[in-house]
Amino acid sequence: MPTHDIVILGAGPGGYVAAIRAAQLGLDTACIEEEKALGGTCLRVGCIPSKALLESSELYSEAVHGGLSDHGVVPGDVQLDLAKMLKRKDKVVKGLTQGVAGLFKKNKITRYEGHGKLAGPGKVSVETSDGPVEIEAKHIVLATGSKVATLPGIEWDGDRVGGSTEALSYPEVPKKLVVIGAGYIGLELGSVWSRLGAEVIVLEYLNRILPGMDSEVAKEAQKLLTKQGLKFQLGAKVTGARAEGDKCVVTVEGSDPIECDRVLVSVGRKPNTDDLGLDSIGLELDERGRVPVDDHFRTPVEGVYAIGDVIRGPMLAHKAEEEGVACVEGIVTGYGHVNYDAIPGVCYTHPEIASVGKTEEQLQEAGIPYRKGKFPFLANGRAKALNQTDGFVKILAHEETDRVLGVHIIGARAGDMIAEAVVAIEYGASSEDIARASHAHPTLAEIVKEAAFAVDGRAIHI
Ligand code: NAI
Repeated sequence: MPTHDIVILGAGPGGYVAAIRAAQLGLDTACIEEEKALGGTCLRVGCIPSKALLESSELYSEAVHGGLSDHGVVPGDVQLDLAKMLKRKDKVVKGLTQGVAGLFKKNKITRYEGHGKLAGPGKVSVETSDGPVEIEAKHIVLATGSKVATLPGIEWDGDRVGGSTEALSYPEVPKKLVVIGAGYIGLELGSVWSRLGAEVIVLEYLNRILPGMDSEVAKEAQKLLTKQGLKFQLGAKVTGARAEGDKCVVTVEGSDPIECDRVLVSVGRKPNTDDLGLDSIGLELDERGRVPVDDHFRTPVEGVYAIGDVIRGPMLAHKAEEEGVACVEGIVTGYGHVNYDAIPGVCYTHPEIASVGKTEEQLQEAGIPYRKGKFPFLANGRAKALNQTDGFVKILAHEETDRVLGVHIIGARAGDMIAEAVVAIEYGASSEDIARASHAHPTLAEIVKEAAFAVDGRAIHI
């Protein structure tokens, strides 16, 4: 029976990063993945392909809707070659998943291809194409990720009525696309198809979009996305969706059914714990179907750990990566830690929306006194030069200590700009620290500096 120091189930961003770190730390490491390509949902059918399409569709939209001509670049007859756009996306994915395979080789990680499951204490079995293989390991890490969630009444056919995976490969631009759920996936993929010419209607159960994000930022996002053509119906309780020939019908409580060409269901994801053999070691899930873990990612069963979407916390690739590293370092060194206050969230619409730390609502709810500094992109030289003047940076700092508690950005390249705020929070910086640090001119990063000055009412350029 093959024996390894550590076996990781799942090769998504949590699992593959954990595997590489374990190998770096000298453990004989194996990773089990049932898909041919490594990288998990994120690389294959999530973050990466969606970003490839967001980039391509934004270029198309700039050409068609005047963004380019504002720069004096007047395109001729702009054509959409959707097949080529989808092919480029697939090429980006292929390159990156092969890159992970290369990293496995470099780090001498043993890869098992097939469905893996626990098979008793210290044992995992893998259903490979050559038959079942039993593996023994001292440490087992569950990193099996999540799968798409659906709603009662949705007749999922994986074609006209489907989720994000389907929406990454529609063979033609739908005339009318109904998106159920105004979260990350709904807004990102809704934006892609809207830019490519679809009429996109977003149905959201709550009375706001992007739940969990700072509400001032979410309101601005709704305003800007509406201007781009997305139609929002808030407070819409979807009761069903089904395909009828080459059309679909979506039913919403209290309003007329909506006919459309395709339906994207993006109402969240749920932990992937199917057929994991948890019973074989007596591991029980928590009330929300997640694998329970302590601060060191240990499940109640000795030698079994879990990280990423399958445990508590936001379902984000970079959160899973942090946990993968901390879990393995904890196993080897006895110490490993994730600072959940400094995990950013980014929605890659245009403009991007990025946030880290506490929202204004959370601070108000907790009764924490704070000061707020806000600075618009419109007053920044680089934003003007880029023709990207929508949005703002908002910094929330403790009223007495000035410690930065939350940073929320809506604007071009917010996803890159948030990194500075993450470092500030990680190091317990004050808004004064950010304001006094030199920021290159002219850059969008200066908006962060100005927002930090604005906390104390002394922004320079406004
Ligand atoms: P989400 O949790 O972000 O949003 C789901 C939305 O659906 C919520 O606004 C919710 O109120 C709404 N909803 C729930 N039931 C509904 C109903 N019956 N009718 C209408 N609306 C309803 O989930 P999403 O967008 O599916 O994303 C899944 C996961 O993937 C999230 O955890 C997200 O963090 C992650 N993700 C992250 C991305 C990023 O970091 N850029 C990109 C894509 C996904």
